Amino acid sequence: MIGAQPAFRAIGLSKAYGKRLAVDRLDLQVDRGELFGFLGPNGAGKTTTIRMALGLIAPTNGTVEILGAEVRHNRSKVLPRVGALVESPALYGYLSGRNNLRVFGDLLGGVPEKRIDEVLEIISLTGRDKDKVKTYSMGMKQRLGLGVALLNNPDLLILDEPANGLDPAGIVEMRDLLRSLAAEGKTVFISSHVLSEVQQICTRVAIINHGKLIRLAPVHELLDAPGEFEIKVDSPDALVVALRLQPWGQEARVEHGLVITRAPQGRGRDLIAFLVQNGHQPDSVGERQRDLEDIFLSLTGDS
Ligand SMILES: Nc1ncnc2c1ncn2[C@@H]1O[C@H](COP(=O)(O)OP(=O)(O)OP(=O)(O)O)[C@@H](O)[C@H]1O
Ligand SMILES: [Mg+2]
Repeated sequence: MIGAQPAFRAIGLSKAYGKRLAVDRLDLQVDRGELFGFLGPNGAGKTTTIRMALGLIAPTNGTVEILGAEVRHNRSKVLPRVGALVESPALYGYLSGRNNLRVFGDLLGGVPEKRIDEVLEIISLTGRDKDKVKTYSMGMKQRLGLGVALLNNPDLLILDEPANGLDPAGIVEMRDLLRSLAAEGKTVFISSHVLSEVQQICTRVAIINHGKLIRLAPVHELLDAPGEFEIKVDSPDALVVALRLQPWGQEARVEHGLVITRAPQGRGRDLIAFLVQNGHQPDSVGERQRDLEDIFLSLTGDS
């Protein structure tokens, strides 16, 4: 049954530009209905992967399947079910928002005016639909780009950096919009290096660097990993020496005058007991907030 097929699947996917591997044997599966984050620093290979997923460029090796069908040989079957926004949308500034949707609709073989009204509603541009796009804000242009991707009412949305260039209010609007699309049952695949974004809306994330998958996990699993504590003491260097003798304290270090360490069994109270028993009375012990940004930096620290 086609409904059981994953929305997106990359199998051993690679792309070489000359000698450089932009994407390196990527294996990835996104299930139906997921709001999936595809994260990586600049140059990690996100856009290259997305271009292969959309059949815009050919893989050097491996394949991409969308909704169960291999993309390169089934473009006419697959692409009508996909909506995509790759980098900045190529909108016509001298046309109105509505006329942009009509023009892109024509490229799809025609979209009924009723659907254009619906899309304008979804992207909250109903009141501004007759204004020229060149008078739109960045956020409005980005929403219109998403509107283009929604014209064919796709099952899968592939969005390359949809938050690009948006201010905080625009980011909140985009986030709400993506959430409501996922709530309708669409699969949403978004690439980003705006990690705080992805943390708030995605259920699972893949982190890539130098074209390679380095982590694939539910967001909560990344965030729930045992955290670190920061300790204020009189002699941080001596404490670090003592901590590093402990099996749980191997990664102890000093940052900005504070000692950063894991705790026995991840428990703050056990850490405090250890400090006191070893004569390092702490002035304060605090659990560090771990967000995806920290995890991302620790995983991609070489770039
Ligand atoms: N057409 C091309 N020709 C040669 N090299 C390319 C081409 N497109 C991308 N690359 C290289 O492939 C690597 C991955 O680029 P890609 O655009 O996929 O990264 P990205 O993760 O989308 O980065 P960003 O966050 O900056 O958008 C980079 O080293 C880039 O220079
Ligand atoms: Mg990119």
